[in-house]
Amino acid sequence: MTTTEIMADLAVNGGTIVTPDAQYEASIAIKDGKILAIGEQDAMPAAQETLDATGLHILPGAIDVHVHFRDPGYPQKEDFASGTAAAAFGGVTTVFDMPNTLPAIADAKSLAEKHAIAGAKAHVDYGLYAVLGEDSLPNIGALIDAGVIGFKCYMGNTFGRIPSPTTGAMLELFEIVAPTGKRISLHAETNSIMERREARLRAMGRTDPLAHLAARPAVVATEAVARAAILAEWTGARIHILHISSTAELRPLAEAKARGVDITGETCPQYLLLSADDYEAKRGVIRVNPPVRETENQDPIWQALVDGTIDMIATDHAPHSIEEKTREDIWTVDCGFPGVETQMPLMLTEVARRQASLSDYVRWSAEKPAKCWGLYPTKGALMVGSDADLAIVDTNREWTIDDAKIQSTAKISPWHGMKATALPIHTIVRGRFAMKDRTLQDNAKGWGRSVHAIQEMPTPDVRHADQTMAAVTAPRKG
Ligand code: DOR
Ligand code: ZN
Repeated sequence: MTTTEIMADLAVNGGTIVTPDAQYEASIAIKDGKILAIGEQDAMPAAQETLDATGLHILPGAIDVHVHFRDPGYPQKEDFASGTAAAAFGGVTTVFDMPNTLPAIADAKSLAEKHAIAGAKAHVDYGLYAVLGEDSLPNIGALIDAGVIGFKCYMGNTFGRIPSPTTGAMLELFEIVAPTGKRISLHAETNSIMERREARLRAMGRTDPLAHLAARPAVVATEAVARAAILAEWTGARIHILHISSTAELRPLAEAKARGVDITGETCPQYLLLSADDYEAKRGVIRVNPPVRETENQDPIWQALVDGTIDMIATDHAPHSIEEKTREDIWTVDCGFPGVETQMPLMLTEVARRQASLSDYVRWSAEKPAKCWGLYPTKGALMVGSDADLAIVDTNREWTIDDAKIQSTAKISPWHGMKATALPIHTIVRGRFAMKDRTLQDNAKGWGRSVHAIQEMPTPDVRHADQTMAAVTAPRKG
């Protein structure tokens, strides 16, 4: 049977497809959640439903590898339904949810509970992270069996106050995770440096927004990136540096890559579009870990994205309530703000302003995340056989971000009032509309599913296996 005899479920006609290498006008036929055919409209199979995408760009749905959906534990901030609705409105078709919920996701039981919540509520596909902490060793195998996308290691304290493991525990955890192939994502801020500085600043009576930045200068992140890279190099573990916020982190990142460490990195819109100059006006709303830094960090971070030192864009979507973000004393303000819904519009606006290409954007937002977590080309690609995860975007639409109108429960962000020149119009997840004509589709709730089942991470080259804690404490033979 030729493809012309097959009836597709949906045909998207007239749009311009964007891949990491090219842009071209073509139709996409979708069947059973997969891309069935791409080509001239005349050559497409007949379809049950058609969508006219004339004048719009068709991007692979973004994969945001760093969101906090707060479910279970903090419904006043967000839950899996509102968080994934925000993703759908932002052209994001897969999210990786962080484990600093209540309870924290640190064992197979809490992970199973979160899988049940996400499976019932998600509008888009998802992966779930589990904590890698001081006492995680006995749980690693069961967590992998229960379906994690990867591990999250908090080298520094942030919301949820998950204690940071000692370097000794980190080494042993890396030794155990390395042969599993799972990637370890690091909140790379060294706790002892910033706690000491924060204590000193508080003792002086500082409560102003910039005291937050003073407590966490770039060396806090840079020392952590370098240390994590050494442990990864020693063990062969795969690692990912979350939320790169400074120029200083780029050197240990680039050097580790040059040495062959399997290390990847993300930055977030806040480190490209906001700066220390914004603290006075935005006050606690801008408080985030790691902090938004001095303006001179923005261009080097952008250049690192362009040259591939930084692999991808994520958001660290970290919703909090208006009350939690507007307290006077900066130390009492919760850290983070929503971003999953505004990343694509803001980044496409920045791509246009800095004369990068839509293809670059697709590499940062979809292809690289899929490749780094072993989901490619099922995810992150517009190819025949890939999941039909599409962001259909008007790249020529001027609008102003309004916190009151965002899907996220947290109606407060530093993005309020910013102008964007792009807007996702339709979002399709495995062939089904999650968002159509800027309207959430009711039947999409619960359609999202965990992507861990399709993940393939080949075993890396494990190093120093003869010197691991397990090896040196094994009973001696003879
Ligand atoms: O500012 C932050 N908020 N940074 C993090 O790493 C965690 C996040 C949160 O969960 O609120
Ligand atoms: Zn985070």
